[in-house]
Amino acid sequence: MTLAEKAGQLNQAANEGDASVEDLRAGKVGSIICSSSAYAGNERQDRVRAQAINKLQEIAVKESRLGIPLLIARDVIHGHRTVGPIPLGQAASWSTEDIKRGSEVASREAFADGIRWAFTPMMDVSRDPRWGRVAEGFGEDPFLAGRLAKAVIEGIQGDDLTQNLAACAKHFVGYGAAEGGRDYNTAEITPYTLRNIYLPPFKEAVAAGVRTVMSCFNEVGGVPATANRRLLTEILKDEWGFRGFVITDWDAVGELILHGVAEDRAHAAELAINAGADMDMATGALVAHLEKLVAEGRVCMETIDTAVMKVLQLKADLGLFENPYTDTALADKVQFTPEGKQTVLELAQKSLVLLKNNGVLPIKPTAKNIGLFGSLIEATDVLNGTWCLDGLAEDVITVKAGFEAAIGKDQVLFPSTLNDESLNQARYCDVAVAVVGEHPQRSGEANSVAYIDLPPGQLEWLQGLKRIGVPIVVVVLSGRPLAIQWLEDNADAILFAFHPGVMGGQAIADVLFGTVNPSGKLPITFPRVTGQIPTYYNRKLTGRPLDPYGAGVSRYVDEKDSPLYPFGFGLSYSSYDYSGLGIDRKDDGYEVVCTVANTSKVDGEEIVQLYIRDRVASLARPIRELKGFERVAIAAEGRRQVRFHLSREEFGFYGADEKWVVEEGAFDIWVGPNSIEGLHGTLELV
Ligand code: NOJ
Repeated sequence: MTLAEKAGQLNQAANEGDASVEDLRAGKVGSIICSSSAYAGNERQDRVRAQAINKLQEIAVKESRLGIPLLIARDVIHGHRTVGPIPLGQAASWSTEDIKRGSEVASREAFADGIRWAFTPMMDVSRDPRWGRVAEGFGEDPFLAGRLAKAVIEGIQGDDLTQNLAACAKHFVGYGAAEGGRDYNTAEITPYTLRNIYLPPFKEAVAAGVRTVMSCFNEVGGVPATANRRLLTEILKDEWGFRGFVITDWDAVGELILHGVAEDRAHAAELAINAGADMDMATGALVAHLEKLVAEGRVCMETIDTAVMKVLQLKADLGLFENPYTDTALADKVQFTPEGKQTVLELAQKSLVLLKNNGVLPIKPTAKNIGLFGSLIEATDVLNGTWCLDGLAEDVITVKAGFEAAIGKDQVLFPSTLNDESLNQARYCDVAVAVVGEHPQRSGEANSVAYIDLPPGQLEWLQGLKRIGVPIVVVVLSGRPLAIQWLEDNADAILFAFHPGVMGGQAIADVLFGTVNPSGKLPITFPRVTGQIPTYYNRKLTGRPLDPYGAGVSRYVDEKDSPLYPFGFGLSYSSYDYSGLGIDRKDDGYEVVCTVANTSKVDGEEIVQLYIRDRVASLARPIRELKGFERVAIAAEGRRQVRFHLSREEFGFYGADEKWVVEEGAFDIWVGPNSIEGLHGTLELV
């Protein structure tokens, strides 16, 4: 290969223009990102169909000198055509099995369109719900994020890469720590926090065999991640043994100039590749400047060869050299199938979190005069949420459609405007279900907010409803936690649905009418007000501890310290009783067991959580740390024993020297339904 051809393999162009036929013929493009929406209205765009991608492959394979196939990438974030819940919603299911199955559906569907590389999972831990991209991640806990990322990777990559997509762990690293929740902002992270909070999910992804990693936009310690040799080479590749390749985020190489660390694009390319970035997304800086940089001795050929080999290896493993083309008849066979919809429906059902219920739910199917209110009841995009390039509006089961299918049209009044007229109509309802929350354009990339309250108008209408005295059920659709103290104080029931995907309306109706027993739990803490942020549960011990979640002293003179809903919280139509905590020493660690009884008359699924606290350590440790969880089905009036194994290693942490250390001594153990309750025990780690 010539140096120019090698540089071409490290170049990812965008199919909306920069991947010209001349460049493909000249071998200047190694990968293409298809980033435009598949649909204009309901019209499928040709650009992202197998036929169009096959044409691009044909040029690369037949008309370029070396005939190397292209690696076609896309943001397949929470489903392809059959859109599932946003990742934050999926995280609320705590179900690795359902998430894996959902990702298998996405992989199969995207494969049929010629896509062979998905920019998922996003595993940025974030402690700030103002940040719009909390919608795309798995919440605030590194352990949960790591487990769920692994499930996505297994689902996307499958057992046979020739029939699936490569996954991409992103954004490496610390993107979720953006100050003030403002997207792309500076992230101040100490090495202690980086090691123990932000890096662990990525380490888990590497261990799970993720084939690629995406570097993030932000800087860490003054060095943008894209030019950060410590992160990309020393930690990711050398220490963890990551054998795949690193792609930079969109134009992140170019942005090194804006960060003020590179003089020009040539300099930016030099910094990025020498730091350990292998492929350049959409800047074109590597392909434009590598020849000159090598000639000037600023980049050595070995660095380039290593990067190119990794890209070619992935193409080989995907089977692209054997067959770069996609069967154009496949999409119709595998997209939006009954099985795919069922998978995504089950994931949606498990992702719904019941935050309050004074008994009004489930609504009896025999109930008369049910009112379903709000402009979101017929909206489709609000169910699909952010990053939905391939979902079709007409596929979506809206909340209204879900109600109609569940109980028919006759008992339900459907007003889609929250105004005086609909308030008047509500007077005649036995129960009013209001669907409120955020439009998907308020979360996702570049969509941060300064106020995490319900959008204007919704609360006022609900207050009017309260004055009428009708029982109020609120369904909240949102890409982030919202400050819903008023709802907690005044509604009769609250179901938090995130953006639940194409089957969302059915899933919501299933839960409201009791065909499905809600079981989701929050993957992120809900503050009472924006000003309390951050409220993450695994904060460190301090010298003047809060009275955690009690009614006692508060450090704020104007608000409680405690959040509105803690991490791990979620209700059910069942009630569960935890008993019989046992902690037994085993050869390689400890076994923790407890019995969970379903004390109700309905079958349910409970997410049982295991937390620890290191009582005395060389550094201040979290007040609680999640170390295990199990989603268990427990029949009505039945009981299940739940068993966790904690190896000795799992009691450790990264110490002051950034090395893993296991310190002996006393540990608290909790097994319970969320991060503030549970059975308590202790053990002495020896
Ligand atoms: C920017 C986003 O940060 C990243 O998540 C995404 O994969 C790329 N753009 C490609 O669209």
